[in-house]
Amino acid sequence: MNQEQPQNDVAALLALAEQAAREAGALLREQWRQPQQVQHKGFRDWVTAADFASQALIVERILTTYPDHGFLPEEEAPELATSGDIIWIIDPVDGTSNFSRQQPNFCISIAATSESQVLAGVIYDPVRNELFAASQGNGATLNGEPMTVSNIGDPLASIVAFDWGHSPEKRQETLDILQRIGHEVHSFRALGSAALALAWLAAGRLDAYFNNNIKAWDLAAGLLLINEAGGRCTDSQHEPCSPLAPGGYTVATNGQLHDWFQALIFER
Ligand code: IPD
Ligand code: CA
Ligand code: CA
Repeated sequence: MNQEQPQNDVAALLALAEQAAREAGALLREQWRQPQQVQHKGFRDWVTAADFASQALIVERILTTYPDHGFLPEEEAPELATSGDIIWIIDPVDGTSNFSRQQPNFCISIAATSESQVLAGVIYDPVRNELFAASQGNGATLNGEPMTVSNIGDPLASIVAFDWGHSPEKRQETLDILQRIGHEVHSFRALGSAALALAWLAAGRLDAYFNNNIKAWDLAAGLLLINEAGGRCTDSQHEPCSPLAPGGYTVATNGQLHDWFQALIFER
């Protein structure tokens, strides 16, 4: 797709993402208080029937409107096209561990992308009925109200979030980083949902976030939210993050804390 994507097309992508996220969210809201059967699809990597049901619903809604679009969804779906003018990057349940244990921190993440740019993105928290949304160049909103990152420049006042990688090596890296950062901040959070943490950073509820294992479906929508809310997100090369999350470190902040946080993360 080209850079002259008409605004109304982007608005239509955003509206569809919102609608699909709300419908899938209703499904998850009905189920999250019930015990879930967990399948293990990898080391420390869980999935439930609700993950597949949510993904199927979202994909179906998108294909009804845009039969030619492509997909990069978390759950395997070999029948879906992987190329197209627009590629939809979807995490149908981010925070499956929480969901499967009746913990409310989970969300749905949907991003409409073109040429590695996120044009529209939503993260929907169905338990709290909070919809975080953005389209490129148009700012970010929470339930329709403009949202911005926090105005905190003092590390000692900051609340810093992170995620735990799955492998022993990733865990150890994170432990080493926490050791360095621990004494400098007000507090830490690990929500257990990378996408929700990114949305909360964009909404000013968190001030910095670190992940050394992020996947495109965890990152894509949140990246746009953060950029549109005035924050920063950089990778291991200290370059702006790509929504395709090619691996390495993901460092996101409210902007003011970026240099401080980045220096500590990469200190060895
Ligand atoms: C997981 C969550 C978690 C992060 C894991 C992810 P999932 O996604 O975002 O916070 O620590 O690395 O895999 O499996 O619940 O979609
Ligand atoms: Ca997931
Ligand atoms: Ca995820």
